[in-house]
Parts: sequence; C-alpha cells; structure tokens
Amino acid sequence: ARNVGIVASDCYFPSTYVAQEDLEQYDGIAAGKYTKGLGQTNMAFVGAGEDINSMCMSALSNLMDKYGLNYNDIGRLEVGTETIIDKSKSTKTSLMSLFTESGNSDVLGITNVNACYGGTSALFNTIDWVESSAWDGRYGVVLCGDIAVYEKGPARPTGGAGVVALLVGPNAPLTFENKLRSSHFEDAYDFYKPFLSSEYPAVDGHLSNSCYLRAVDRCYNLYTKKFKEAYGEDFDVFGNSPGKAQHALFHQPYTKLVQKSYARLMYNDAKRGGDIVGDSEILKEIAAEFGEVDDVASYTDRALDKKCVTASADAYNERVFPYTIAGRNLGNSYTGSLYFGLLSLIAQSDKLAKKDDRVLMFSYGSGLAATMFSAKIEGSLEEQRTTCNLLARLDDRVKATPEQFTEALEMREQFYTATDFEFPSVNDTKLAPHPGSFSLAGVDSMGRRAYTRS
Ligand code: ACO
Repeated sequence: ARNVGIVASDCYFPSTYVAQEDLEQYDGIAAGKYTKGLGQTNMAFVGAGEDINSMCMSALSNLMDKYGLNYNDIGRLEVGTETIIDKSKSTKTSLMSLFTESGNSDVLGITNVNACYGGTSALFNTIDWVESSAWDGRYGVVLCGDIAVYEKGPARPTGGAGVVALLVGPNAPLTFENKLRSSHFEDAYDFYKPFLSSEYPAVDGHLSNSCYLRAVDRCYNLYTKKFKEAYGEDFDVFGNSPGKAQHALFHQPYTKLVQKSYARLMYNDAKRGGDIVGDSEILKEIAAEFGEVDDVASYTDRALDKKCVTASADAYNERVFPYTIAGRNLGNSYTGSLYFGLLSLIAQSDKLAKKDDRVLMFSYGSGLAATMFSAKIEGSLEEQRTTCNLLARLDDRVKATPEQFTEALEMREQFYTATDFEFPSVNDTKLAPHPGSFSLAGVDSMGRRAYTRS
C-alpha cells in the first residue's frame, strides 16, 4: 500500500488531575521547581479503579465509536506500554474482548515492551505490515500509553497518565519518511522495573537525562546523514527552507527536557561543521566556546545548556513548545507521551500546520531504545482535529487536591498485587472515570480481571 500513515486518531486520559503548583506547596518544595524548573502545569492520575487494560479499552472504543469503525475492519492491533499487570498475558489480548461481538479474532499484533519506546515499536510494526506482502487490506490500530507513577520523592511530579489511539492505513493525511528512521539502542540502567511486587520504577533521574540526551545526539547525527543521502541536501532543523522540519516533537518526561533536547540539536549542528555552520554567527560561537568540551561532560555543562537554550528559544517557541501542551497538562504518559505531542500538533493544525510540512519526532525509552524519524503532512488533519477535540477535553477535567492524588496512589499500592476483590465497594467515587469509559470491576482469586463500562 502507498502513503501509509495515520488516518484517524483519538485518545483517553483520566478525568482527574492535580496542579503542579499545589504539589509544590504540598511537598514543601521551593515554589517554581515543578512548574518552571520541570516546565509542568498539571498531572493526570488514576486511582485503583482504572488499570492499563481499562484505559486502553477506553481509548480503543473512543477511536472506533467516534469514527463509526467496525471491529471487522481491523486486521492488526499493536499495543505499546510498560504498565505491566501480568507477566504473561498481554494488554493486547485483553482488548480482544471488545472484538467478541464482531466475531473478528483474526487480529495480528501483541504488546511491545521497553519503557517509553513501546508505542514507537507498535507504530513501526503496524506501518511496516500495511506496506508489506502480508497486508490483507484492513486497518491497523496502535494503542500506546501508560500509568506513570513514582514513589514519593523528586521523580513523583514527573508522573502522568493517558493512552493514544492511532488508526494506520493507506492514503493517509499524515505519512512517515520510513527510510530516515535513525536509532540508538544501548544497555543502560537509567530507569527500569526490576521489583515485580511494586508498580514503581527504579530510577536514576540524572543518569536518565544524560542517557536521553546522548540518544538525541546519536539519533540526530544519523538522521542528518540519512537525510542527506536521501535528498542530497543538509537537514537544517533551525532553517527556514521549505521541506525542513517545521515542527519537532520529543518524548516528554517533563517539558524542560524537551527544550534542552531541541537546544542540543544546535550544539550538534555547531559540531557538524560544513555548510550547516556556513556563516551562522551563533553556530560558530557555540563551536568556538564548547567544541572541545568532553562528550560526557557536555551533558551536565550548564553554560553550554544555557547558551543553546537561549540561542534556540525563538525556534523552540514557534516549532516545539505549542505541541507540549498535552504533556504539560497530563504529565508523562510514557509510551503515549510522544504521540500526545502528535495529537497536540493535530489539535492546532488549523493554525500552525500546513500541507508538506515535516514533523521531526524523537522517541526514547530507558534501558535504552531510541529512534528519530519524521512525518509529513500530506492532507487535511481537520477531521482528526475536530473529532479528538483534545484542547477542550484537557480543560474539561476535575482538579483534585494533592491529598486526593496521594490517597489515589496509596490505593494503587494497596491493590497492585491484590486478588479476590470487587469494585465499586472500595472505589472512590470522587475519582469516577469519564462516562462511557471502562474501569476495573474486580480481580478474582485466580488473578483474572473483569471490566465494566460506565
Ligand atoms: N524555581 C525554578 N526552577 C527550579 C527551582 C525553583 N524553585 N528549583 C529547582 N529548579 C530547577 C533546577 O535548576 C533544574 O533545572 P535545570 O536542569 O535547568 O538546572 C530543574 O528545576 C530540576 O531540578 P533538579 O534539582 O535537577 O531536580 P531533581 O533532581 O529533584 O529531579 C528529575 C529532576 C531527575 C527529572 C526527577 O524528577 C526524576 O528523576 N524524574 C524521573 C526520570 C525522568 O523523567 N527522566 C527523563 C528521561 S527517562 C523517562 O522518560 C522516564
């Protein structure tokens, strides 16, 4: 099939959020650390009454119902998540309960797991299937998202929750430049989940930032090489020539890291030399001041960071920041994070995007797996913009107190490995999910989960 890409999109996120400003106070942290320092506004969260399966069911049914799709039209369903509630049974198979009525069980795909990267793996598998000789003419669906929770401490404000649903097929208004996929995989212990009795990760936060930035460097350098091979010209991310990247989306653990990553591309350009530096005064300055900085030291060099953030600020505000809106308000949805960036772009496509624009994308999953790739806007995104209605939905949520947020996480801890219980006897009605969405009805003594739709 040709022009394979995203033909429809939607999402699900919880009805409740906590304000980062309120959390700063509650945590007794200096005002501004979470809001300005990390760049976060609000954080979505769920109590024990929702799990990753129910959230994926809600996202899938949103996509199917709003577009009037038939479950028989789906030939592949790939999930990306790192929210693991069963060491064997995948979320993908739990989602098959939604297909039962249609009689369609001929649905390829499974859950992809590696920290925040699984969604990208799910997307690539699905695109490649539609382009392959194995394709049977039906649509593929990608679901990616997580419930991101951290134990008390500095990482807790970088949690979040949400699931993105993407319909993949031919003749799409948003396609991908598959030949430019540029990856960096490495064995690292920056963020991982070795303690199977707890939902919380083991995380070395500052190491994870360095690993993330190193992956940005590696992937970007490879991407620029592949771009030149493909098009015979330099990829100029900060330039204005048509056909370069008018928009850039990054995996968004917290917004400040997105800004630092985009700025880091400028440092890479300064070191790349040749035509890309040309007569650019700022790139020459960066090269002269920081060209000799040791690679490892460069990840924590505050003067370098400040210089590049300042120099790239205008481009960042125009080409990157608008698309951090979902991430600023939901927090990190791990595998969903980059794709909430894509939904944020679609949400503002009437004002900010035009046909033939290129969207640079960077996916990162600790451990580590990373790919830089790009999408092209080939047609109208208007139907996706109005159907998803993302910005209005972000506004239409209930603000909870930090106390309610903390209670919800305590409740999740209590029920994480529990069996033989039924909601709603213990469910917290204050955290009731959106009408029409799915929630966990209970877990029986054999660990089997049941779901209800409100
Ligand atoms: N006002 C304004 N800014 C402030 C304030 C304040 N009162 N206090 C601190 N800051 C700034 C700091 O200067 C710093 O900014 P800088 O890096 O530009 O200098 C920023 O806020 C963060 O402060 P730190 O002291 O570095 O934060 P801390 O060490 O407490 O935690 C971290 C931050 C490491 C991101 C932590 O939240 C974490 O571990 N999160 C989870 C891991 C993560 O998300 N990693 C990212 C990639 S991997 C993934 O996606 C999971």
